[in-house]
Amino acid sequence: MATISEVLSRERATPCGDSWLIDTELLLMEALACRRETLLTWPDREVDADAQQRFDAMIARRRGGEPIAYIVESREFWDFSLTVSPAVLIPRPETELLVETCLELLSARAGAQRVVDLGTGSGAIAIALARADVRFEVVGVELSAEALAIAQTNAERLAGDTLRFVQGSWLDASVCTALGGAVDLIASNPPYIAPGDAHLGRGDLRFEPALALSCAEQGLASILSIVEDCHKVLKKGGWLVLEHGFDQRDAVAAILTRAGFAEINCLKDLAGQDRVTRAHYN
Ligand SMILES: C[S@@+](CC[C@H](N)C(=O)[O-])C[C@H]1O[C@@H](n2cnc3c(N)ncnc32)[C@H](O)[C@@H]1O
Repeated sequence: MATISEVLSRERATPCGDSWLIDTELLLMEALACRRETLLTWPDREVDADAQQRFDAMIARRRGGEPIAYIVESREFWDFSLTVSPAVLIPRPETELLVETCLELLSARAGAQRVVDLGTGSGAIAIALARADVRFEVVGVELSAEALAIAQTNAERLAGDTLRFVQGSWLDASVCTALGGAVDLIASNPPYIAPGDAHLGRGDLRFEPALALSCAEQGLASILSIVEDCHKVLKKGGWLVLEHGFDQRDAVAAILTRAGFAEINCLKDLAGQDRVTRAHYN
């Protein structure tokens, strides 16, 4: 039986990219069901045969390029940890900017607020908003039944009964009926990568659902559909907050302007990239 320090040294000797050591530690923590402190303070602890087998299986998947989040079946987002599977996009730190923007807009409004998260995936945005304030009644909309099952599992653990989900496509007739009335804010991180974009063939994106990543019209088809149908449910004076590609700011602003939105502002993510646009519905 090898010790923690022996297992880690063996992996350290295998050059496999900058994040390899971090990944190795994460997978060993998962195999041993322990915290990082254990790896650091108890290097002589023996890794039993079952844990070694679990670790070897996970390392083999990681070497095959599989995202660490799918291997350990979780990802931190906002102030909680979400269960994830290959049925959902792995929530990104950039999307926290969208949550922050929604919270700022919602907090400035009085009374109960009806909020919709279009393309909820793992439920990341909807759960963050529902947890923030009991005044927010949140509905997560999702086309994929498999993704919706993950969102529901996460919501049961992390959110209360101010959050519910609807299966359907963006703001089509059946979704609008299920929403059951006018809403104050629509948030969405829709697919926005153009089909054929080189990024789709790299890194984690190779393993994520195509439905979550790309769409037609150079990646703008989902945003076009959402903006076009907003008027069906968005209150006058309500807000639309969209995540989009770093190079889509002007195209998104043009779509919103054509649809009659005002106060269109694009915000930059922590990497300094144009990432989230908010727009006021008059
Ligand atoms: C970029 S992912 C965002 C997931 C999650 N909101 C997040 O930020 O991590 C886009 C999501 O939109 C969903 N989606 C794609 N087309 C859709 C449609 N027509 N109607 C509703 N959801 C759709 C995908 O299944 C996916 O879960």
